[in-house]
Amino acid sequence: MAKIRFGLLGAGLIAPFHAKAILAAPDAELAGFTSRTEAKAAKLAQDFNCKSWPTLEAMLADPAVDAIDIMTPHHLHHEAAIAAAGAGKHVLVEKPPAMTLADVDAMINAARENNVRIAIVLNFRTKAPVLAIRNALAEGRFGRIHQIDAIMKWWRTNEYYLGDAWRQHKEWGAGATIQQGFHFIDLMHYLGGRIVQVEARMGNLAHPQIPVDDTVRSFVEFESGAVGTFLGSTALWPGQDFRIEISGENGTAVMSGEKMAVWKFRDERPGDEAIRNIGLGDFQNGASGPADMGFLGHQRIIEDFTRAIIENKEPLAPAPSARHTLEVCLAMYKSAKTGAPVKLPLLDEKVLF
Ligand SMILES: NC(=O)c1ccc[n+]([C@@H]2O[C@H](COP(=O)([O-])OP(=O)(O)OC[C@H]3O[C@@H](n4cnc5c(N)ncnc54)[C@H](O)[C@@H]3O)[C@@H](O)[C@H]2O)c1
Repeated sequence: MAKIRFGLLGAGLIAPFHAKAILAAPDAELAGFTSRTEAKAAKLAQDFNCKSWPTLEAMLADPAVDAIDIMTPHHLHHEAAIAAAGAGKHVLVEKPPAMTLADVDAMINAARENNVRIAIVLNFRTKAPVLAIRNALAEGRFGRIHQIDAIMKWWRTNEYYLGDAWRQHKEWGAGATIQQGFHFIDLMHYLGGRIVQVEARMGNLAHPQIPVDDTVRSFVEFESGAVGTFLGSTALWPGQDFRIEISGENGTAVMSGEKMAVWKFRDERPGDEAIRNIGLGDFQNGASGPADMGFLGHQRIIEDFTRAIIENKEPLAPAPSARHTLEVCLAMYKSAKTGAPVKLPLLDEKVLF
């Protein structure tokens, strides 16, 4: 099959990362950009030597586009995704998939009805230590899982939050829990399975004039019986690599950014030393600023998505799996607002913020 030609919606901070990832992926082609501000899309089109369209409708009407890659503010993802699926285009959406579960369900239904693929950009799922932990889990090496913790001690400036109006509105998707924390709450679920209860406290430590959470501390219970904590913050200067720590009755793994910091099992195996050496290069993962990272994770997502389309198989991060991560995030907001634990599934989506 020919390469998958991507039309990009949104011309903000993350757009150049997607463009570079598409150019580096063997089965992908960069068709062009559109955005709210036509001039910004045209400038990116000039920089990356591709087309621009004045509107999403014009991009969707172009037969030279096979897939739409959505990078708008969070509360706008679903409308564009549903329109793209309706136009028969495959849909790749930046995290979080949407701001309500009803909107994600509408996106999933639109893709199903129009027979197109939909996947979410969960680039942290592609990291080498995550794959090693997933393999060990599949082989049962951990035994029963006792504890899964995720720690995101990051830093974002006031200027970052003031950069666009949506970054100052919780209901539009701003806040450390759903915006940056989404990746790590997703890894807790991706590694630990479904989450059945959360309890969270949120605060704003370092950005008092921005009315969003810049810090969350939470307690998480998994269906398996395991428990965990998520500490997420964009208030902790200068920002450190995130950590995922997982311990079972027979082993412990700790990843720190791109590195495997601890890899210890009762049954040491020949490949274990190589796993302990994962990530000994110089990688950046967004700890100190939003552009403080490379595009390799996005490239892996694009490669996976194009293979899913070409080979007609499930992508690494299908929308239903990201739906559960959104559900957990929303439950954390509800818990922080009410001061009480929240059980999942989340049946009442009202008054979350
Ligand atoms: N996966 C990652 O590692 C990662 C990193 C950063 C951002 N993101 C995600 O990327 C998405 C965009 O984030 P960003 O930081 O680039 O935001 P941004 O504010 O810098 O850019 C958003 C873009 O959307 C455009 N836009 C706004 N309203 C629009 C509309 N109605 N129609 C068309 N375009 C519109 C804006 O003009 C802007 O070009 C978010 O979902 C964010 O969570 C993901």
